[in-house]
Amino acid sequence: MKITAAITGVGGYVPDYVLTNQELEQLVDTNDEWIMTRTGIKERRILKGKDQGASVMGIKAVKQLLEKTNTDPTEVDLLICATVTPDMLFPATANIISNGAGITKAFSYDMNAACSSFLYALATGAQFIQSGLHKKVVIVGADKMSAIVDYSDRANCILFGDGAAAVLLEPNTDGYGVLDQVLCTDGSGEAYLHQKAGGSRRPPSAETLANREHFIYQEGATVFKFAVKSMADVAAQVMARQHLSHDDVAWLVPHQANKRIIDATAHRMGVGPEKVMLNIQRYGNTTSATIPLCLWDYEKQLHKGDNLILAAFGGGFTWGAMHVKWAYNS
Ligand code: UT7
Repeated sequence: MKITAAITGVGGYVPDYVLTNQELEQLVDTNDEWIMTRTGIKERRILKGKDQGASVMGIKAVKQLLEKTNTDPTEVDLLICATVTPDMLFPATANIISNGAGITKAFSYDMNAACSSFLYALATGAQFIQSGLHKKVVIVGADKMSAIVDYSDRANCILFGDGAAAVLLEPNTDGYGVLDQVLCTDGSGEAYLHQKAGGSRRPPSAETLANREHFIYQEGATVFKFAVKSMADVAAQVMARQHLSHDDVAWLVPHQANKRIIDATAHRMGVGPEKVMLNIQRYGNTTSATIPLCLWDYEKQLHKGDNLILAAFGGGFTWGAMHVKWAYNS
């Protein structure tokens, strides 16, 4: 009998502090109208406080997930943390989250595919379930984007926010869960979206600090063009492979980078706005957390058997889409 990896629960966490467009107007030359029409973002959440990393939010999201699903933390076999803002380069933030959530009998590691990290991690975790090797796998997307955002760069500081959300994967033999995915990488995209320093090529130095090289560098218009085409292409490809018409799709669960990119993807798939998960207006782009935060926000509206198309595009370039058949009513 074929084993699939079903999502059997969702947990999430966003920090309390709300950074509004009005507050950003005080920091840089921008305005609410420009931000709303160009991106669809109204506000984002920011993790405040000294020595607070992405793991702080990841632990809260995973603890909620384990409580909601009545899962004993010691039964978890594997935890993968999708993140571009790990607490530190090593050890993995996944280890810190496991420790904080009482997950003591699992192995854990981080996965970085920029804004596609969650999709890559979900696809990877699903393999461990499908192979029959593991019974409980946690995938958590956690990013503290405020740690690498330059709040004097008006093109980028308006986009990003902090948050975390997690899903539990368990074996299913009735055809629910992760059914197909197409994942793509084009390394030539490095030029347009990256963080210049802090890694082994340009370790931190007085020069990298002075040049503000530890912040996100993005050529927005170029990334936008690639994102619109790639996310729509790959979503349509998964639908075709799975013989899904727009009527068969219950929900598009898109990475939340820009409402205009989301609208273009939905248009290409032929699905109306009522089928598109959207929370960019409240959280902005939380990178690895956008897709699971959508599932967290919309969980009550999901029904067993719903066909979901998850789609993402991010730095790397990385992009992909996935077909998930929802496994439960909440
Ligand atoms: O999730 C990872 C992948 N990332 C993405 O998917 C992001 C993709 N890119 C985007 O979403 C959009 O390119 C942005 C939202 C970043 C920018 O929107 P845009 O429509 O591409 O604007 P632009 O960069 O072409 O800039 C248009 C104008 C420029 O002024 P000039 O040169 O025409 O005078 C910018 O300087 O808008 C100006 N501008 C702003 N004005 C007010 C840029 N940022 C701002 C701002 N407020 N915050």
